Amino acid sequence: MESCKRIAVQTAQKAGFVLNTRLGKKRKVGYKGVVNLVTEMDILAEEIIVSEIQKHFPDHNILAEERTFKIGVSPYQWIIDPLDGTTNYAHGFPIFCVSIALTKNEETVLGVVYDPTRDELFVAEKNKGARLNGRKLHVSSESNLSRSLIATGFPYDIRESPINNFDHFHNFAIRAQAVRRAGSAALDLCYVAAGRFDGFWEMKLAPWDLAAGKLMVWEAGGTATDFWGKRLGLSGKQVLATNGKIHKAMLRIVKMGKFPK
Ligand code: IPD
Ligand code: CA
Ligand code: CA
Repeated sequence: MESCKRIAVQTAQKAGFVLNTRLGKKRKVGYKGVVNLVTEMDILAEEIIVSEIQKHFPDHNILAEERTFKIGVSPYQWIIDPLDGTTNYAHGFPIFCVSIALTKNEETVLGVVYDPTRDELFVAEKNKGARLNGRKLHVSSESNLSRSLIATGFPYDIRESPINNFDHFHNFAIRAQAVRRAGSAALDLCYVAAGRFDGFWEMKLAPWDLAAGKLMVWEAGGTATDFWGKRLGLSGKQVLATNGKIHKAMLRIVKMGKFPK
């Protein structure tokens, strides 16, 4: 596991550095959907990470957002979001990260999230805790939703689908202290782990958005479930991640809104 951690950290930092040095420059933008974009930097960051992982762990499976899906007999799988927060990145808005997770038999055992703009490295190892730049992380102790700072994001099919998070947003905005929409689900989860957010909910996410961040939350003493309160699995798309203390209150409210069943 030590060598996996070392390589994941090195490659997240390498890709993050490349992303950061080119932040704010003119981008080649392609579209995966009406508002779901991809830049040449997503692809480049993925290439940097995947080539390094393949070099060191040639038999491991890989699931990366843009191009790489490699499946074999190994119990290990890397789940990679080379650039989480692409829309922010494409606009030069400095909230984005690289997210790399390692699973063994479908359980996340390692999560590495690197935010190059703040030089913040989040690392979680199963049963060993979560750390930010080496310092142990712990979720917040807030138990009152009306004093909680919480976060969310909106799905890419926001224009086409009636299940678009607007009702949830309304329901939380009038109950929490404030709601933020920063634009990087992996960082939102790390911020719950770091106690900067007390809770986070979002729906229609993908494994690469969640795999590293949810381990960060668990290892920092928090809770990450689906909207029914069930511990989040690898294929879970709806996430509610909190400090544990406001989980019940947030769960009651997510159930009031529309979500994929
Ligand atoms: C997106 C970000 C965003 C969330 C979207 C994700 P991407 O990932 O995490 O915060 O609201 O649902 O898809 O496309 O920037 O990798
Ligand atoms: Ca993402
Ligand atoms: Ca991405």
